[in-house]
Amino acid sequence: MKNILITGGAGFIGSHVVRLFVNKYEDYFVVNLDKLTYAGNLENLKDIEDADNYSFVKGDICDEKLVDELFTKYEFDGVIHLAAESHVDRSILNPMEFINTNIIGTVTLLNVAKNHWTDTKGKLFYHISTDEVYGSLENLTDFFLESTSYDPKSPYSAAKASSDHFVRAYNNTFGLPIVISNCSNNYGPNQFPEKLLPLVISNIKNNKTIPIYGKGENIRDWLYVVDHARAIDKIFHRGKIGETYNIGGSNEWRNIDLVRVLCKIMDEKLERESGQSEKLISFVKDRAGHDLRYAIDSSKIQKEINWRPSVKFEEGLRLTVDWYLHNEKWLNNILSGDYQQYYSEQYEN
Ligand code: NAD
Ligand code: TYD
Repeated sequence: MKNILITGGAGFIGSHVVRLFVNKYEDYFVVNLDKLTYAGNLENLKDIEDADNYSFVKGDICDEKLVDELFTKYEFDGVIHLAAESHVDRSILNPMEFINTNIIGTVTLLNVAKNHWTDTKGKLFYHISTDEVYGSLENLTDFFLESTSYDPKSPYSAAKASSDHFVRAYNNTFGLPIVISNCSNNYGPNQFPEKLLPLVISNIKNNKTIPIYGKGENIRDWLYVVDHARAIDKIFHRGKIGETYNIGGSNEWRNIDLVRVLCKIMDEKLERESGQSEKLISFVKDRAGHDLRYAIDSSKIQKEINWRPSVKFEEGLRLTVDWYLHNEKWLNNILSGDYQQYYSEQYEN
């Protein structure tokens, strides 16, 4: 029996990780601590919310008293830390929230874990990070390795980089057993429609323009979210303490090419005339400090942990589009209120 704290489990990636752990490990008790910000949504976990080995706690990772009480009550063996402010554009509009959650929240969790884990045997603090901490690859033949120097360029990636440094510092200074993974861009069901793929799907469905920043030449390496959850499962169980693992899809796309593929799939699914969705593409002002290219070399995790992506991109895209088209209620609940306000601030000036 193991008790595990998963933070940010009501978000996009967190909900897939919670589902995987609750269903796969009946002898684990999973506590999901989530503040339910605009990005947290308990609808994501409807299918497992009544499971005997699962409990949800609404709360902030910056709330040291609450985190301490949870550690006392559950005597956690492991932490899988996903809670974060995760959207680059929002970090440009309002950096402070990113500093609070991503840095102060992470250090709060580290402190409480350090205080409770006087005997570190069998304990693990697993910090989920991003490839964006490595900065922007200007050369098309370079890849991010675990040894690549940090060079974050947005308030989001700077806050994540800072949290990674604190996690390593707690390992080096206090002997806290940690592991970190840095993953490329995820896509799949349950992603909040502020991120590129669900935004494009949602806008095409609603006949709204598709905003492409700059010339659409920026490159991202896309991974299906369930493959990321599987990697997290493997690293949690087989990762070496103190190590970092890069996780990527080996699947690089220029934004404009990816959006054109999505347009084709949407035309087919919505039974629209071929080429209709592409007409919605609109090139808009570039993101400030827009990183050109991210690309992961994931040979370490492939060799040492025997993980590789299992879902082909074409299949993952179709699964994703089908999910959004069949979960209209989920999407419509989000496309109101606060999101509208964010959307007009971000795109209409
Ligand atoms: P998300 O924005 O969809 O979800 C974040 C979750 O954290 C939400 O449920 C939110 O309510 C919760 N949260 C935010 N602040 C909190 C706080 N102070 N206390 C408790 N809960 C809080 O994010 P995501 O895309 O699922 O990303 C999860 C993690 O994976 C993040 O750490 C992110 O940096 C990392 N990551 C994401 C990607 C990606 O492509 N989405 C890629 C690599 C790494
Ligand atoms: P995003 O999904 O925000 O992820 P990240 O910035 O963390 O990589 O964006 C993916 C790419 O798509 C990025 O190069 C920015 C671009 N993009 C647009 O062109 N238009 C948009 O409306 C959004 C949200 C993103």
